[in-house]
Amino acid sequence: MITELADFNQNYLDSLPGKEEIVISDKGLYHTIICDGTPAGVVGFIKPKSETQTDWGFVQIIIASEFRGRGLVKIAEDLLAEKYGLKKLLATIKLENIASMKSHKKLGFKILSEEKIMELRTKGLLKENEVRLEKIY
Ligand SMILES: CC(C)(COP(=O)(O)OP(=O)(O)OC[C@H]1O[C@@H](n2cnc3c(N)ncnc32)[C@H](O)[C@@H]1OP(=O)(O)O)[C@@H](O)C(=O)NCCC(=O)NCCS
Repeated sequence: MITELADFNQNYLDSLPGKEEIVISDKGLYHTIICDGTPAGVVGFIKPKSETQTDWGFVQIIIASEFRGRGLVKIAEDLLAEKYGLKKLLATIKLENIASMKSHKKLGFKILSEEKIMELRTKGLLKENEVRLEKIY
């Protein structure tokens, strides 16, 4: 299976069920995931606010239904990290998004400390029904 990151296509993203789970921002860089020549999802990241921090970001990923369960989350996120020289990926995941929680934990993402989570919630940076995870590359 050959997986590549191609140019982002908004119409393709709009066609995917579950697209409301990812954030499309003008601070983000996104790609269509191509698997053996066929579009299989979208992966990208939102850069941190500070322009001086360029080696991490908030990952966004959606896999097309027919491509789920094939290990594409890891392949696509690894390709993204490599392409942009990212040393850390953060993921904000809704507690009820079992597939995303399972998938990201399996790939080595760890939930931030309870203290950090509380701090983010207090600052209004994380909703009650969300958690934040990170993976260091
Ligand atoms: C989250 C998402 C990218 C995962 O893609 P995927 O290819 O299915 O991921 P993986 O196969 O690596 O892992 C999914 C795991 O969740 C499990 N799973 C999927 N749906 C589930 C459900 N409803 N209940 C319980 N487990 C579920 C799968 O069995 C798998 O676990 P396993 O490896 O132990 O079998 C995909 O579901 C998706 O695109 N969702 C919509 C967009 C989204 O939520 N993006 C993430 C935003 S934070």
